[in-house]
Order: sequence, then C-alpha cells, then structure tokens
Amino acid sequence: MNKFISVNTPLLSGNELKYVTECIETGWISSEGPFITQFEDSFSKYVDRKYGIAVSNGSAALDIAIKALNIGKGDEVIMPTFTIISPAQSIFTSGAIPVLVDCDPITWNMDVSQVEAKITSKTKAILIVHIYGLPVDMNPILNICSKYNLKLIEDAAEMHGQKYYDKMCGSFGDISIFSFYPNKHITTGEGGMIVTDNKEVEERCKKLRNLAFNPNGRRFVHDELGWNYRMTNLQAALGLAQLENIHKHIEIKRKIGLKYHNALKSLNHFQIPLSKIEYAENIFWIFGLVAETEILNEKMVKYLNLNGIGTRPFFWCIHEQPVFKNFGLFKNEFYPNAEYLARNGFYLPSGLGLKDDDMEYIIEKLLEFNDY
Ligand SMILES: Cc1ncc(COP(=O)(O)O)c(C=O)c1O
Repeated sequence: MNKFISVNTPLLSGNELKYVTECIETGWISSEGPFITQFEDSFSKYVDRKYGIAVSNGSAALDIAIKALNIGKGDEVIMPTFTIISPAQSIFTSGAIPVLVDCDPITWNMDVSQVEAKITSKTKAILIVHIYGLPVDMNPILNICSKYNLKLIEDAAEMHGQKYYDKMCGSFGDISIFSFYPNKHITTGEGGMIVTDNKEVEERCKKLRNLAFNPNGRRFVHDELGWNYRMTNLQAALGLAQLENIHKHIEIKRKIGLKYHNALKSLNHFQIPLSKIEYAENIFWIFGLVAETEILNEKMVKYLNLNGIGTRPFFWCIHEQPVFKNFGLFKNEFYPNAEYLARNGFYLPSGLGLKDDDMEYIIEKLLEFNDY
C-alpha cells in the first residue's frame, strides 16, 4: 500500500497565484507593499476589530501581545494547561509566570469555573485559548476580567470565523491573535495577525514587530527591544486571496467535521467532539478522538498509520513540559482532565484539501477497528 493521507492539506483554489504573481511582477516582496495593509484591513474588519497587525506567525503575535500589554517580571498570567507551548513560552520569556488551569473534559477548553481561584495580587491578565473548534465560554471570563481589572489576551489561532453566540472569536481580547499556518482555515504559508480596538496598542504592536524602530525618531536609534516579526507582501497576497474564500473554507471544514461526527458516533471506546454546544457550533479546526485508555490510543494510531492514514497527537500539557520542569515550574501540579486528553487523544486528517473518497476510506477503516 503506497498511499498516505496526511493530517493536513491546504486549499489554494482562489486568487493566490494571481496575487503572488503580482508581487513578483511589481517587485513588492518584502514587508512593505500594498497587500499587507489590504490584508490587515480586510481581516480585522472580518473579525470585527478596528486594527490588524500582520506578523510572521501566531507565536510571534503572542510575544508581541504580552509585551504590548506591559506584562513582564513579577506578573502572573492565567492560562490553560492544555494547549500548544506558544502562549506559555511568550509569558515565560517575558519574565512573567504562567499560572495554569485544567480543561473541561467535554469541550477540551479551559474550565472557566477554576479561573477565579487562581487570581492573586500579581495576576495581570488572563490568556484564553480556543481549542480545536469550540470557543471558550467567554461571558464568565469577561466578568472576571472586569471584576479584577485584568487584561484579556485571546488566542484565536485556530478559530477563524468561529462565533461565541453571535460575536466573532478574536473580538474579545484587549489583544487577540490568529495563526495562518497551512493547517488553519486560511493560510499565508507561515503568518499571524494581532487584532485590537485600541489605537495605542496597535501602534505599540507595529513598533514591536519592526525591531522597535521608532516611527517618529531618528532611524536606527532604539528606546526598547522588539523583534523582526514582519509579514511579507508575498504572504499577505496569499492571505488576501484565502480570505476571499473564508466562507467556503469554513463550510468545507464543517462538512468534514459533521461527516466524521455522524459516522463515528458508533465507534466504541472513543470520545468524539460535540457538534455544537449552547453558545457555538463546532467549527472543527481538527477532528479529534479520545480513547478510553492510553493503550487503546496507541493501538488505534498504529493501526491507522499502517493503513496509510496520518494522525497527530493532542497537545502535551504545559505543566508536564520538560522545559518548564527544568526551570523548576509547576512542581506537584496536576490537572487530570488535561493529562487524560494529552495521553489519550489524537486527531484525524481534517485538512481543507481532504478528498471525499479518502474520507470514506478513513471512516471505513475506523469502523473496521470497532470489530478489531
Ligand atoms: C492555539 C494556538 N496558539 C498559537 C499557535 C502558534 O501559531 P504559529 O504556528 O503560527 O506560530 C498555534 C498553532 O497552531 C495554536 O494552535
């Protein structure tokens, strides 16, 4: 058997080639060029924000978000333990401490009922992360932020086009961020976007992404440190073309997710994602499965791979990351729901380019495993 179905394939079916060709023909290939502002304006409008700042990736967006909100040494930021390392890394490298919260076993998002107990006099912000397709329950978070006067950073890296009730994900944070890695609903190859409604924050983010060059002072004289986290015009050209098709992309993802959902209801001993909850329909960034035991998880992943079906394990908990253990963090901290998901969960091919017959084949193999 030669065929291998990868966990992700992007869809580049619109004006991508046309716009990228335009960059090459006009010579605008760096971070200056007309597609950057067009992409920033169109994307921020799409998620109902005043300002967009395009950057080189979603992790870079988080670094900038933390610094732009003046979070650093001596501060604490509350965040979920079940997520990618990027938000914890941004907090930690700023000098602040990530303070962790377990996740809900059904939605896989941060358990908002555990947040308030983590607040101390050092807490400066809450960083929420919408995980895998369902949004975090935002109303309790917004109430806590206003009660304790905390900043809100919203990691919507996986959540383009998703809504919490009727409000766009990415429109909640003092700063919200997105990623445009090729497994996202829209891609720029590598890329990210910061969005905000605050003009001062926008200006600070723009400065920080550009080595903190002072926009009003003498060139090459710096009063603080930033990064070169600029997006190129080539990437923005891709992004703009993708954004033109975002509704189609969301529809395709939902179709893939619902097809898996309906077909795999009968899969014994595995938890599948909910198709909707009170405040949102699942946008199915990825379609995850959670086995009842670690052994079953390993067995299923091996079986799928042997049958030419790619999988990817779930995130590994932040409190169990060797790098943070080595720094002496999170000693004797346990978050059972997140630990269970990290050990027992993986996801199926869920990319926009997934072909119908490949999906039929994946489902057939999964259901065969039922009788294994
Ligand atoms: C929740 C979350 N935050 C941040 C990131 C980082 O984005 P990037 O890969 O663009 O750096 C990702 C990447 O997938 C993510 O899933």
